[in-house]
Amino acid sequence: MTSLDKSGTYKLGSRTVKRLGYGAMQLAGPGVFGPPKDRGAALAVLREAVASGVNHIDTSDFYGPYITNQIIREALHPYGDGLTIVTKVSALRGKDGSWIPAFSREELTRAVHDNLRNLGLDVLEVVNLRAMFDIHHPAEGSLEAPLTVLADLQQQGLIRHIGLSNVTSSQIADGRELCEIACVQNYYNLAHRHDDALIHELAQQGIPYVPFFPLGGFTPLQSSTLSDVARRLGATPMQVALAWLLQRAPNILLIPGTSSVAHLRENLAAAELTLSQQILSELDGIAAGGTAST
Ligand SMILES: NC(=O)c1ccc[n+]([C@@H]2O[C@H](COP(=O)([O-])OP(=O)(O)OC[C@H]3O[C@@H](n4cnc5c(N)ncnc54)[C@H](OP(=O)(O)O)[C@@H]3O)[C@@H](O)[C@H]2O)c1
Repeated sequence: MTSLDKSGTYKLGSRTVKRLGYGAMQLAGPGVFGPPKDRGAALAVLREAVASGVNHIDTSDFYGPYITNQIIREALHPYGDGLTIVTKVSALRGKDGSWIPAFSREELTRAVHDNLRNLGLDVLEVVNLRAMFDIHHPAEGSLEAPLTVLADLQQQGLIRHIGLSNVTSSQIADGRELCEIACVQNYYNLAHRHDDALIHELAQQGIPYVPFFPLGGFTPLQSSTLSDVARRLGATPMQVALAWLLQRAPNILLIPGTSSVAHLRENLAAAELTLSQQILSELDGIAAGGTAST
C-alpha cells in the first residue's frame, strides 16, 4: 500500500480509481497555451505521478492545444492497465488563446478523433462534455444535441463513458435521460461551494464529482484560516485544502494540477492527512465568512 492509497477509491465508469489523481492542464504554456517552458519537467511530473500510484489523470486537447495530450503520450505510453485518462471536448482555441465553443457534430467527432490520436488510444475511457453557455459558470441550456453525438460515438466504440462538465443539476438530470453519466466536473473548492447540494445529490446516485480548481485555480487559495490550520497541523495550506475535499464527500475525486514535481509530491501527501471535526468546522467558516480569495 502506498501513502496515496489512504485517499481511498471510488468508481469512475467501469474503473475504480484512487480518490487523489492529477490534472494535466498546468503542463501547457502560460494561459494553457503553447508549449511548456520546460518539456522535460512536464514529462517528469507525469512520470512521478504514475510512479507514486496516481491512476486517474484529467486532460484535454484544449490544453496547448493538443500539446498536453502529446506530452502525456510521450511520458506514459504504452499506458499501464490501471491508468484512467479522462478528457473533455466542446471547445477550440483561437490563435490568440481564446476558448471557442465547438459543439457541432463535425467538431465533436473531430475532437474525439484528435484525442484518440494525440493520446495514442483506440478508445477514450471517459469523455466529458464541457458546457459553454457561460464559459466560467454552469448556465442553463440544452445539451441534447451534443450528448447525442457523444452517445453515437460511444455506440461506435470510440468512447467508453460520458461525463459532463460546467453543468447544472437539471442538465445532469436531462443528460441521464439520454445516456449514462459517469461523472460530473465542476468548479468547487474550500472557498467556492455553489455545488454543495449537487455533490450530495450525486453521492446518493453513486456518481463521482470531480472538482476543477480544487486549489483555487490559477491563483491558489489564500486564507488566513487555512494558513493557520495548516501551521497547527504541520501541513501546507494546499494539503489542507485537498484533505478537506477528501473528507467533504465520498464521491469527490481530486485532480489537483501542477507543473512541479515538488508540488505534486506535496499534494499527493494530502492523502495522509486526517482533519478533526473541529478543524473541519473552522475550514467550513472560510466559505461562510468569505475570508478566502482565489
Ligand atoms: N472542466 C473544466 O472546465 C476545467 C477547468 C479547469 C481545470 N480543469 C481540470 O482541473 C485540473 C485542476 O485545476 P487547475 O490545475 O486549473 O487548478 P488547481 O489544481 O486548483 O491549482 C493549480 C494551481 O495551483 C498551483 N499549485 C499546485 N500545487 C501547489 C502547491 N502544492 N503549492 C502551491 N501552489 C500549487 C499550480 O502552480 P504550479 O504549477 O506552480 O504548481 C497552479 O497555479 C486541471 O489540471 C484540469 O485537468 C477542468
